[in-house]
Amino acid sequence: PIAFSDFKVADLSLAPFGRKEIQLAEHEMPGLMAIRKEYAEAQPLAGARITGSLHMTVQTAVLIETLVALGARVRWASCNIFSTQDHAAAAIAVGPLGTPGDPQGVPVFAWKGETLKEYWWCTEQALTWPDGQTPSMILDDGGDATVLIHKGVEFEKAGEVPAPETAADEEYRIILELLNHTLSESPGKWTAIAATIKGVTEETTTGVHRLYEMHRDGRLLFPAINVNDSVTKSKFDNKYGCRHSLVDGINRATDALIGGKVAVVCGYGDVGKGCAESLRGQGARVIVTEIDPICALQAAMDGFQVTTLDAVVAAADIFVTATGNRDIILASDMAKMKHQAIVGNIGHFDNEIDIVGLAETPGIVKTEIKPQVHEWRFEDGHTVLMLSEGRLLNLGNATGHPSFVMSNSFANQTIAQIELFTKTEHYPVGVHMLPKHLDEKVARLHLDALGIKLTELRPEQARYIGVEVDGPYKPDHYRY
Ligand code: NAI
Repeated sequence: PIAFSDFKVADLSLAPFGRKEIQLAEHEMPGLMAIRKEYAEAQPLAGARITGSLHMTVQTAVLIETLVALGARVRWASCNIFSTQDHAAAAIAVGPLGTPGDPQGVPVFAWKGETLKEYWWCTEQALTWPDGQTPSMILDDGGDATVLIHKGVEFEKAGEVPAPETAADEEYRIILELLNHTLSESPGKWTAIAATIKGVTEETTTGVHRLYEMHRDGRLLFPAINVNDSVTKSKFDNKYGCRHSLVDGINRATDALIGGKVAVVCGYGDVGKGCAESLRGQGARVIVTEIDPICALQAAMDGFQVTTLDAVVAAADIFVTATGNRDIILASDMAKMKHQAIVGNIGHFDNEIDIVGLAETPGIVKTEIKPQVHEWRFEDGHTVLMLSEGRLLNLGNATGHPSFVMSNSFANQTIAQIELFTKTEHYPVGVHMLPKHLDEKVARLHLDALGIKLTELRPEQARYIGVEVDGPYKPDHYRY
């Protein structure tokens, strides 16, 4: 390997610390390590050029090095301005064989606390391969890499990019500026990239939602695998991951005692279920808001009061949004909150909380307590504590989900990459799920580490319930 400079991270000297944490994480990620072993010889990703856009954490470092161990070349950016763990990014740039002065790892463009402009620059760098090469695969979380390519192709077809001044918000203005630049400096760039992409594997609910919309409208340009809805992803990472990392984020941000407080969780999907359970575990009295009667009833059956935000906004101490929807907590809601109420979002995008409206509130004053924790003081003197400026607080204020649960998610990601890269013809343009036997395989890879003893189905039992002894054990419509 030759030392290189094709990366941008905060501080390369953090690499040895990052490497130590990566080594600890490897032990906690048995699924990924088993996949490395299984495919060490076959090298199913040999020749793949994977662009990743996913939180650059220690766990993601183990994913990246798994893809490399399977033969892929990789370029990476984070999918959130606050989620990068700088020591993990440094260790990835340096690589297992390099030293901070002699980086020999993977081109990674990510640091904690990017501006939005830097964020989109990083995404573009991850998509821009050297020597005129283009990516063959996208590994996405939230869809930003996929959406950038699609917007680029759309404007290249039209022959022009709308003027940035016409953008509805600051972020879209930045995207239009970027695309204006590529249209004049490297015309045809996005069309060329889209043409070589065999597919995208998408990590999260919000990204998957965007993919289904694009496909519905006939705009999707390449096949996609919905990793989120593998059972071993959404029913584990979204739920048990958030059960761990939500309170971790609140604690690191505020260190306020959660026990005895009234906490409101908006949304009782997979993420909301994990959040509500973790807050209750700390002794909070948890109240849920929902729009879906099924999830509302589930929350009630699980023992939570279910009501509207309006009914409790003036009485609660902690507010968490987990809906994947916009405008859940408005500035006018925060105006009614108790002094020093804690407000945070754990959904993918920051539009769940109306930060723009908050900033425009007459007389409001924003004070930084520390990075990713801000006090907003209203004219009447009461304040709210905003976590991670409304961006996902478990990654902004803490370190996201722990390794063991991410091993499940990333084993799905790796298997999905192998599927799309090696069986391209099985996956026409559209949004696909991994077959159930692979979902079960991911779970199986994690049993030993927890000392789980599985009961073996006897052949006559298998016949009786109409399955094979080796699975799959459930029909596709089963909901777990
Ligand atoms: P989900 O679809 O299972 O749950 C969202 C729930 O919010 C649904 O039950 C929906 O009915 C409800 N909802 C929608 N609008 C609402 C409103 N106005 N008021 C109250 N409830 C409302 O989605 P999931 O998997 O729970 O994901 C939620 C968000 O979290 C997504 O943006 C997803 O991408 C993100 N996510 C974040 C993670 C993290 O580590 N921070 C991990 C996994 C997902």
